[in-house]
Amino acid sequence: MASSSRGRGVAGKTWPGSHMVSSTARRELGFPSLCLPQKTSYGFTNASLPLEGHSKSKMDNDSDEDVVDLAANSLLNKLIRQSLVESSHHVEVLQKDPRSPLYSVKTFEELQLKQELLRGIYAMGYNRPSKIQEMALPMMLACPRQNLIAQSQSGTGKTAAFVLAMLSSVSADKKFPQCLCLSPTYELAMQTGQVVERMGQFCVNVNVMYAVRGNRVSRALGITQQIVIGTPGTLLDWCFKWKLIDLTKICVFVLDEADVMIDTQGFSDQSIRIQRALQPGCQMLLFSATFEDFVWQFAERIIPEPNVIKLRTEELTLDNIRQFYVLCRHRSDKYRALCNIYGSITIGQAIIFCQTRQIAKWLTVEMMEDGHQVSLLSGELTVEQRAAIIQRFRDGKEKVLITTNVCARGIDVKQVTIVVNFDLPLNQDYEPNYETYLHRIGRTGRFGKKGLAFNMIEVDKLPLLMKIQEHFKSQIKELDPEDMDEIEKIEN
Ligand SMILES: Nc1ncnc2c1ncn2[C@@H]1O[C@H](COP(=O)(O)OP(=O)(O)OP(=O)(O)O)[C@@H](O)[C@H]1O
Ligand SMILES: [Mg+2]
Repeated sequence: MASSSRGRGVAGKTWPGSHMVSSTARRELGFPSLCLPQKTSYGFTNASLPLEGHSKSKMDNDSDEDVVDLAANSLLNKLIRQSLVESSHHVEVLQKDPRSPLYSVKTFEELQLKQELLRGIYAMGYNRPSKIQEMALPMMLACPRQNLIAQSQSGTGKTAAFVLAMLSSVSADKKFPQCLCLSPTYELAMQTGQVVERMGQFCVNVNVMYAVRGNRVSRALGITQQIVIGTPGTLLDWCFKWKLIDLTKICVFVLDEADVMIDTQGFSDQSIRIQRALQPGCQMLLFSATFEDFVWQFAERIIPEPNVIKLRTEELTLDNIRQFYVLCRHRSDKYRALCNIYGSITIGQAIIFCQTRQIAKWLTVEMMEDGHQVSLLSGELTVEQRAAIIQRFRDGKEKVLITTNVCARGIDVKQVTIVVNFDLPLNQDYEPNYETYLHRIGRTGRFGKKGLAFNMIEVDKLPLLMKIQEHFKSQIKELDPEDMDEIEKIEN
């Protein structure tokens, strides 16, 4: 299995001792350059920060710091690995509990998958299917192929479900695109493509193409890969402007995060234009953790004779993600509360969501000035910068990712134990955005692991948080940020 993207092979350098960089140095370098990646021979990225040079020379002068950091790092990695091993037992228990979204009666063997796909699944360390995989796969693999609109909680394995459907349908000997998968963001498209590559590693001559900003295709050579994963804008250009993809030859069409992809506020025009050009026999698969009622109705109108897997609202939140809130007076109060929590809890990795790019920048500077090693990912960065930052975070080189809604959906980093809503997700009318709230907190607690979600709430926003609590019928507990004992107890 090979891929065609220049976004792979991202290799970041370690950055020990970076937290010792003085705040004056940071200011001199200027904030926007804090997370600039550099071009490398890999084509896309290498996440080396301009600060790296500075911290490195400091490190060179002070080898003790280096040793301490490496030791601490290795201990941290050991602890993270340990907790992952421990929680795999927890996952097995959940897979036997009929109330859990990870529950399954069947094994992967019983799902009638091809041998090479079973090998791919086991190579990824999966033992049993989750509920959504067990339910969706027989529908998706039925003959003739059927359409499906499927909802399942965050982190329950929707990706593997539709990836297996795509890999089961391609003909390796036909050298043109046969499956299309649309994702709302660059990061998610890359992540999904990597799942296809890993799961399809034993499928000989089946390849993936990434239709994302910055990836170019020679029109003379065309696309020979069978599976194309991309973002709507680029895919639209590839299909209609450059005529690189013949939509009449597509046999499986997947919309991941389907609710934003068809909601008129989202990517609707682009996704629907592609969907309309498909042949009637093309299988259409829509997946998401959330579907507002009107989006669901729209989905059922545009997808012919769909099978449906739907959750009730109270089933949407996951028990393994515990939710808290801290009442704050203003932004600097929120920051202090965040630092208290950060200082008292053992963090695998954390994602902090802010409502705007400006607040995200402000918070990044504050945290860096206070000596925390954090990175910032927001929409105004180039794809090269974004690829580098997310890769460094996946590799655990930064423990904290500060971001906007660009990372709210789909991103799967197992070590994320904490999500912080520095700001609540609100719609333009200042009402809570329930779907975004759920997707954000779902960046932790992946596949049954335990996760914590903290909401930093200004007093006047408390009614909005209560609405969220009421909407999902789930408990969000108040926390006193000055009470370290209470905070420490949360972990147990
Ligand atoms: N059957 C399985 N056994 C073990 N791990 C699995 C299985 N299926 C999926 N996973 C793992 O679970 C994690 C979450 O999967 P995935 O990203 O597909 O969730 P999702 O349902 O798409 O979530 P989201 O709604 O956040 O997009 C991934 O790390 C994936 O490798
Ligand atoms: Mg997903």
